[in-house]
Amino acid sequence: MKCTKIFILALLVVASCVREEATSVGTTPEVEARVDGLLKQMTLAEKIGQMNQVSVGGDVANYADAVVKGRIGSILNEADPAKINAFQRLAVEESRLGIPLLVGRDVIHGFHTVFPIPLGLAATFDPALVEEGARVAAVEASAQGIRWTFSPMLDIARDPRWGRIAEGSGEDTYLDCRMAEAMVRGYQGAVLDSTSMAACVKHFAGYGAAEGGRDYNSTFITERQLRNDYLPPFEAAIRAGALTLMTSFNDNDGVPSTGNDFLVRQVLRDEWGFDGLVVTDWNSMGEMVPHGFAADNKDAAEKAVGVSVDMDMMTFGYLSHLEELVRSGAVKESLIDDAVRRILRVKVMLGLFEHPYVDVEAAAAVQYAPEHLAAACRTAEESAILLKNDGVLPLKDGARILVTGPMADAPYEQLGTWCFDGDRTHTVTPLKALQERFPGKVSYVQGLRYTRQKRDRFDDVVSAARRADVVVAFLGEESILSGEAHSLADLNLKGSQSSLLAALHATGKSVVAVVMAGRPLTIEQDLPHCGALLYAFHPGTMGGPALSRLLTGEVNPSGKTPVTFLRTVGQVPLYYNHHMTGRPYKNETLLDDMDLEPGQTSLGNTSYYLDYGAYPLFPFGYGLSYTRFAYSGISLDREVYTPSDTLSVSFTLTNTGEREGTEVAQVYVRDLVGSVTRPVKELKAFRRVSLQPGESQLLTVQIPVSDLAFYGLDMVKKVEPGEFRLWVAGDSASGDPLSFEVRAAR
Ligand code: NOJ
Repeated sequence: MKCTKIFILALLVVASCVREEATSVGTTPEVEARVDGLLKQMTLAEKIGQMNQVSVGGDVANYADAVVKGRIGSILNEADPAKINAFQRLAVEESRLGIPLLVGRDVIHGFHTVFPIPLGLAATFDPALVEEGARVAAVEASAQGIRWTFSPMLDIARDPRWGRIAEGSGEDTYLDCRMAEAMVRGYQGAVLDSTSMAACVKHFAGYGAAEGGRDYNSTFITERQLRNDYLPPFEAAIRAGALTLMTSFNDNDGVPSTGNDFLVRQVLRDEWGFDGLVVTDWNSMGEMVPHGFAADNKDAAEKAVGVSVDMDMMTFGYLSHLEELVRSGAVKESLIDDAVRRILRVKVMLGLFEHPYVDVEAAAAVQYAPEHLAAACRTAEESAILLKNDGVLPLKDGARILVTGPMADAPYEQLGTWCFDGDRTHTVTPLKALQERFPGKVSYVQGLRYTRQKRDRFDDVVSAARRADVVVAFLGEESILSGEAHSLADLNLKGSQSSLLAALHATGKSVVAVVMAGRPLTIEQDLPHCGALLYAFHPGTMGGPALSRLLTGEVNPSGKTPVTFLRTVGQVPLYYNHHMTGRPYKNETLLDDMDLEPGQTSLGNTSYYLDYGAYPLFPFGYGLSYTRFAYSGISLDREVYTPSDTLSVSFTLTNTGEREGTEVAQVYVRDLVGSVTRPVKELKAFRRVSLQPGESQLLTVQIPVSDLAFYGLDMVKKVEPGEFRLWVAGDSASGDPLSFEVRAAR
């Protein structure tokens, strides 16, 4: 037996979801003086020009007149550094006031070096690593003149049909807060300099709750749900210094975000004190017309400026109508001044006036730098989740491996959604990585050319499998099957992928499935057909080496599910932190066990599906390792706290297996009785811990009691005294609870 070492490690986990500090974007008197100085010199038309953002493409000359006349304040969709320089030259050297353009782009999960999709980033539960990745993206993109990224996306998503679930951190508010802060810090840097990209937190707000999972759809989120679940990540990002924010496409309870006074004016500006730039989503101002909330673009512009939306992305509503609205007295010029002040502030703070141009050659040199690729590889390693393993993994040295499946050698598809700049020729696929790792031992039969392909027979793959010792099937989704406007009603593996896996299983050989997808797919029917299943959300440029290292055991899987994995799509929405019903589920009779002609009764029946019960396939926070972990000695420093105290949770985590590994220890809390019903569990802290075989660590996690505050019946955020339960475990469905009490301070 290995001797158990005990390490005492006091971890001060800053568990608070939202830090209580000033929310200003960090301006200085010098910045303000410069902004005011410029504002005084501007004509009304020049001010309105700053509020106009244009998607450019093709010849710079096409936009020269508008830029020189000061009718464009920001551009998007141009990434060529030479062209960006040309745009800036027009703005800085030829426009009357020489105000540089703010160049924006969707740099969502890396720029040239592509990192895992954001859902995969969340699966790492490693904010420091995610921050490093965002820094890499900022260094690469800023070198080419892109100083504003439309990221991070902070939309809580509890419906995997929604294609944009790929772009966020999943279903949990606390995890989303931590990822939000990390990305903002990474993009903007510790101090703003020429490598900083302004972060743009989006989509404000509630967009992820699109009804039916259909993109752009209406949402019906109550104010309490908004405040408790959907808004905290935005507030956390803003307190971390996010310079800008984007309004969303959806209407919530009938009010589109771009004209939503409650969201933008009341919560964002007045309650949070956000003085950063607010931009619309693409034409979301104009879309208030088809929504039936504005009569025409003029009405939409008046509504948007009225709630303090500063910049119009691609409606041209401000450009076309604001001047007239001001002249007629419908819109006060002070509203325009406020908006322009917020836009200029960002430009000044980013140093664009001093450094409007980039060095094109130097820019090329930083793309795909070895340290960037290494960071992308580490992130892909940490983001993969081991969902099943009967012992077939890690792969044994010397084994003859058959690699198959549509995602094995798909350099474009593994990059995932939203990667305009990732060049597939730099992608390293799993096939290439495994061939390099096991020279002469890897054979390859594709089986299916793409994930949607249908085939009746797999004779070629099956006979190749018979000649191999182990089969690794790379399945999943092409990148186009997730992301904006790409929702799905059926979440099973597409095409004939499940049949391919079943055919491989029927050979009797050991089969490993690796799924690369943009969402949690419903893979229950596939699990019996593989000995191991590794789930990699689209892993990016370095997905191949990362997956190869995980399969061989050079790296031990440590990712955890950032979202509940469903057994069937009919369970949507099913998420771990739901509220308790009056009839909590107990093991009920399922369809197959029912008598014929049973008498109808509702007595005793609980909240579940007759055919699928009440549980998911894998709960939130779940993921296996090649080793095992045990939790012991879980304790709290006290039994009773006041709202101003801090909980000190101690526990010992032991690696009881045979190899080094990393566990994500999670702390969940339940408030038993409230002025309104509370979730059955809520994540309040997590910690990644690496342990040698046999090693133990005593961990102490501190959670301010104020983190248990919520918006109750009176819609005031506070901690409600009473009984609580607390769990420490490796996922959201495990562990035995401790009890504690919060009493009002006397
Ligand atoms: C629409 C998307 O909703 C948004 O996320 C993106 O940033 C903009 N288009 C700009 O491309």
